[in-house]
Amino acid sequence: MRVRTAQTGAGVPGRRQVPGVRVDVFVQPGDARRALRAEALQGLCGMPKELSPKWLYDERGSQLFDDITRLPEYYPTRREREILLAHAGDIARLSGADTLMELGSGTSEKTRLLLDAMLEAGQLSRFVPFDVSEAFLRRAAADLAREYPGIGVHAVVGDFDHHLCQLPSGGRRLVAFLGGTIGNFKPAQRALFLRELSAGLKPGDGLLLGTDLIKDRARLFAAYNDRAGVTANFNRNVLSVLNRELGADFQPEGFVHHAPFDESNAWIEMQLISRRAQTVWLGGLKRRVDFAEGEVLRTEVSCKFRRAQVEAELSAAGLDLAAWWTDSAGDFALSLALRR
Ligand code: AVJ
Repeated sequence: MRVRTAQTGAGVPGRRQVPGVRVDVFVQPGDARRALRAEALQGLCGMPKELSPKWLYDERGSQLFDDITRLPEYYPTRREREILLAHAGDIARLSGADTLMELGSGTSEKTRLLLDAMLEAGQLSRFVPFDVSEAFLRRAAADLAREYPGIGVHAVVGDFDHHLCQLPSGGRRLVAFLGGTIGNFKPAQRALFLRELSAGLKPGDGLLLGTDLIKDRARLFAAYNDRAGVTANFNRNVLSVLNRELGADFQPEGFVHHAPFDESNAWIEMQLISRRAQTVWLGGLKRRVDFAEGEVLRTEVSCKFRRAQVEAELSAAGLDLAAWWTDSAGDFALSLALRR
């Protein structure tokens, strides 16, 4: 089937044709590189040095993250799946939603668990995947339209910072933000994100939110410092992204992966530590960047939560906690919150 940018009859009752896929595109291919250039100037020339975790996910980075989800030490993906397997039916029932919207796709297996539960409850009419990668989203949208004939697929290509307001309205909506990705936002950013998301919802619409929980330090540490070194490769891959996109000359072996748990902020902080004093040339920006020996470049924070905090933050954004589920080990949580 062909994916078009226009609606092709999706959701038109009584018509027995292949349901259409609509794709709204709010970001252009060049946008990412422009944003990276602007951010690299700020983030690499500032003190301390810091980059946004979104640059970790080029094609190779996405593949490495996929590998991470299967590591013995990395529990969040398995735990969240366990919760969804146990409670997808409850989620469908309690949300009463006919539209599933998923922020940051790439969790297709989890998406299907939710879609199947909504289908079974007889209430599924539309799926709205939201992601920054157009190519990825078009493929995923076409696959899902084929697998779920009779529902409309309305994909939105956008980023969280600018395009949350573009999520389509209508029906009873459930927004799923899974994987613990909300942990990538620092508290102020997170509050803003939740407020913006909530502002686009109507009373009764829902948010299904995955959050990793505070636990034993050693297990948190192991999840981000795996023995096989996959997370280290994932982290260092961002330097290859900078080399490619900015014409930089980072030597990935010149940096060591380290991801300590910062107790006071309750977040894991992914760092690349310079092994030696070194200078990097950002050719595309005509800038040099100096690293001292031992200097840290922060590439990601991954916040860990407790129930009371999640509940309070949701509530501050106008979202009332309707259900809270954890896996059997209490490692990870799914919250269902409804717009007040
Ligand atoms: C995809 C953001 C949820 O924070 O656990 C995994 C990314 N970073 N290992 C996380 C990640 C290092 C992951 N999220």
